[in-house]
Amino acid sequence: MLTFPDGFLWGAATAAHQVEGNNTNNDWWVKEHTPGTGIVEPSGDAMDSYHHYREDMRLLAGAGLTSYRFSLEWSRIEPEQGFVSRAEIDHYRRMVDTARDLGLNPVVSLLHFTVPQWMFRNGFWRNPAAPDLFARFTEAALPILAEVDYVCTINEPNIAAMLAGGETAANLVAFGLPRPDLQVADALLASHKRSREVLQSVSGLQSGWTVATQAFHSTGEPGADEKLREYAYPSDDWYLENARGDDFIGVQAYTRTFIGPDGPMKVRADVETTLTGWEYFPPALELGVRAAWELTEHVPVFVTENGIATADDSRRIDYTDGALRGLHAAIEDGIAVIGYEHWSALDNYEWASGFRPTFGLIAVDRETFVRTPKPSLAWLGGVARANGLA
Ligand code: BGC
Repeated sequence: MLTFPDGFLWGAATAAHQVEGNNTNNDWWVKEHTPGTGIVEPSGDAMDSYHHYREDMRLLAGAGLTSYRFSLEWSRIEPEQGFVSRAEIDHYRRMVDTARDLGLNPVVSLLHFTVPQWMFRNGFWRNPAAPDLFARFTEAALPILAEVDYVCTINEPNIAAMLAGGETAANLVAFGLPRPDLQVADALLASHKRSREVLQSVSGLQSGWTVATQAFHSTGEPGADEKLREYAYPSDDWYLENARGDDFIGVQAYTRTFIGPDGPMKVRADVETTLTGWEYFPPALELGVRAAWELTEHVPVFVTENGIATADDSRRIDYTDGALRGLHAAIEDGIAVIGYEHWSALDNYEWASGFRPTFGLIAVDRETFVRTPKPSLAWLGGVARANGLA
């Protein structure tokens, strides 16, 4: 048995826009409905988790998991600049209470890519006031966070800076993304720091940001190693270095990307790929955790996302088993790891790729919203109950 540390958290993750449905007041909703968009379909009702969150959490807890990561939707809480909806604060507060009642430790993300339309119109992260606006949103959210131990300020600032760098991404890996907008990267860092200052007023609360660790590999061709160094720093490493001194660093790992002399390469035709077209590569997690531990100079790691889009649930179990074995090896080497949140609790809205890539431990009928757990949920719940892998 590969045993994990005492108190290790075992959970699954979602994000508001991907599961709640009807987030009509954020920037993504506008993008989804813009004529000629490259986004394959709009999010619509998504999984209607805005209403079904209790059921989602009950399934996770019933399977044996001990944590649930979800995000707040800023555009619901502050639908117009300066107006904070008490009803929405109460809604998210109920989510935290529900998680606690069910024995799930709630991990709350303040921002998972989407911003209110007013924020987008007013210059988005390029507005010099953006860090102030995010700090004020953090203050507004404090009543939700009173019983929360772990808060992720900004989800994948590195991917957010890339998404802000140009046209809509084909999907969320390096060869589908533009180069990061460095002004946006600086604004996200300033926003993260301001948000953490606000969060430090809550005793016992730990905060950090979460980084998509992309496991860049050189193709070994002439010039590829230099290109990798030049490419990886503003894509990943800068975000990890800037987490030094934070309470934790969130690691989100899925696949690897090869870098050739001209930059990121498409996935080779002869390897197994997932429904997002990414290489099936479970060691991505261990590589991400080790990189985060080193570059942050030993900030505790929290695996805030890891998973696979597949229609074959047995591949999900195989992938996750492989990823967890790598994670265990990193822990054995002395790396402090708080917990593991599988992406995702539910099949959901995968941004520009729509609903086709299914990452969930639970399937959802998009007309009736009936939830059907997959074998992988019971499997991960079993790992959680044993706090280890057989
Ligand atoms: C994001 C999620 C996304 C997942 C799979 C991460 O980039 O945080 O929102 O669904 O990876 O692409």
